[in-house]
Amino acid sequence: MESLSAKIESLKKEIAATTVAGSEELEAFRIKYLGTKGLLKQIMGEMKNVPAEQKKEAGQLLNEFKTFVENHFEQMASGLNDADSSDVNQLDVTLPGNSFPLGTRHPISIIHNKIVAIFQRLGFSVAEGPEIEDDWHNFTALNLPENHPARDMQDTFYISQNPDWLLRTHTSSVQIREMMKKELPLRIICPGRVYRNETISARAHCFFNQVEGLYIAENVSFADLKQTLYFFVKEMFGNDVQVRFRPSYFPFTEPSAEMDISCLICKGEGCSVCKKTGWVEILGCGMVHPKVLDNCGIDSEKYTGFAFGMGIERITMLTYQVKDLRLFSENDVRFLRQFTSAV
Ligand code: PHE
Repeated sequence: MESLSAKIESLKKEIAATTVAGSEELEAFRIKYLGTKGLLKQIMGEMKNVPAEQKKEAGQLLNEFKTFVENHFEQMASGLNDADSSDVNQLDVTLPGNSFPLGTRHPISIIHNKIVAIFQRLGFSVAEGPEIEDDWHNFTALNLPENHPARDMQDTFYISQNPDWLLRTHTSSVQIREMMKKELPLRIICPGRVYRNETISARAHCFFNQVEGLYIAENVSFADLKQTLYFFVKEMFGNDVQVRFRPSYFPFTEPSAEMDISCLICKGEGCSVCKKTGWVEILGCGMVHPKVLDNCGIDSEKYTGFAFGMGIERITMLTYQVKDLRLFSENDVRFLRQFTSAV
């Protein structure tokens, strides 16, 4: 018994000091100590020489020793695995790093940001509102009472649970919400997505994006409107672009106009984009109708204002010469990757 425990102690020391440099040495260790003819088995064989009254103690000693050898083996094995994957010497710092591909901004976002930045420079601030609107904010307050024929100009999606709710057809509804706050003078632009029940084609979609603008103060005139829009066009498209206003009709403005710019693609010569006219329409505008001001509780004797509204898709198509509106919502990365911008 004495000799057994002495033997185990010395083996333990020997084992604790053993390290292996690779899987072959590890296997040699396993065979030497844990194999079927290994040292562990041999020592176990010595149990038969131990006197009966010491067998229990010897058994415990042997069990402990077995666990000790097995643990040491496991430790060395996992040490080898770790070394395989994180050995500093295997790290090649000259390899190029993993690249993280940067996304690009959506062309609509690029043009949206550009439009917003131009008007912000003129002192307009951004106002936003809900895409699900009620009839009053989208139509009635804008001088389009029920059964008004001009409601047909905008094919509307109604919410089936409540006929008073609809998807806004323009962001003029946001202008109403802002006017209702009656903090005058008011100088805002309202960018956002709008919805119309149109057949989807290269030139029309059931949703698109607008930026509408509104300025209300004392003595605002049509000349102010024209100057603001001239500034916008020059900043957006450059100094060479020509501008013209045509009289038009909107129920919420009087007088109303539409603004055309000379075709950016053929420079006014006439092409398929401008339908050979040399001009393309980019926005609607006018002086805010006194009834709209009254509807919002603003004194129309004291205050006047102008409003305008444009489609971002149209301007994006002109800027980048995109011929099909559907590309903007299909999210084909081959299309989207072509646009880069700092804004
Ligand atoms: N709300 C109009 C539209 O969506 C645009 C517009 C805004 C026209 C303001 C005149 C004044 O078509």
